[in-house]
Amino acid sequence: MLTSFEQTIIEPARYQLETLIIGQELLGLEQTASTNSLIRERAFAGVSEGLVIVANEQTAGRGRRGRSWSAPAGSSLLLSLLLRPTWLLPSESFLLTMLASVAISEAIERETNCKVELKWPNDLLINGRKLAGILVELETAGPERLRWAVIGSGINVNWQPTQDPSINQAATSLAVECGKDVDRAALLRAILQSYDRQYLSLRSGRREALRQAWLSRLTTLGQTVEVELSSHNFSGVAESVDQHGGLQVRSSDGQLHTVYAGDVKVRPIAQA
Ligand code: BTN
Repeated sequence: MLTSFEQTIIEPARYQLETLIIGQELLGLEQTASTNSLIRERAFAGVSEGLVIVANEQTAGRGRRGRSWSAPAGSSLLLSLLLRPTWLLPSESFLLTMLASVAISEAIERETNCKVELKWPNDLLINGRKLAGILVELETAGPERLRWAVIGSGINVNWQPTQDPSINQAATSLAVECGKDVDRAALLRAILQSYDRQYLSLRSGRREALRQAWLSRLTTLGQTVEVELSSHNFSGVAESVDQHGGLQVRSSDGQLHTVYAGDVKVRPIAQA
């Protein structure tokens, strides 16, 4: 028998799903520890690419840099998918963060008319507040080849996140920003279709088109940012993003730093 989550979200999303790869196998779970962890297990077991797992609730959701990711049951889209982009070099793997960011942004805009912006490296924002985050986990086969990638995303849909000042980026949801609840099944279907289009395009070699689509939404460049690394923090102006997805930040002494694994806080522009 189908669970209520399968009946109300997964089956309607599957109905008229037009994809070639993404979501051809689509699994909905009422509760799991982490959809990324589940997909990783399947990836190690040799499952084909395109598998998507969506959970109504996670008990041990994971975020970037060892953080946790939490959302009330039934409020969000918590999903992970498995790709086997063996045609990408490990040094090109930032393209997968770009792929997820662009695919999800396009689907949200199609379903809600709310404009989504991106903050380096992996945050989706609406009106400057964090709406969704992306966690990409990879397995390589030496320096030359990617074996698989798990792309997880947590999208705040129908709830009001508390504004916890200890959280790096103020959080929000689609319901808050768009002024009404959003149909999670329709949004899930739109996300899978958008992922599929973007993935097929990238697989056919259109790396630069993806990079441009991502850059056109990125609001980090030109801003004064505080960069948080595991060892220390520094501030500067975000100037560009290099070919590997590194953020290039110019500090006040004129030095250009390239950041690959870190977080940035955008400094609000001082009021005159
Ligand atoms: C971040 O902004 O730190 C990334 C958050 C990613 C959260 C999602 S929710 C679905 C998937 N499963 C997880 O355990 N994490 C990702």
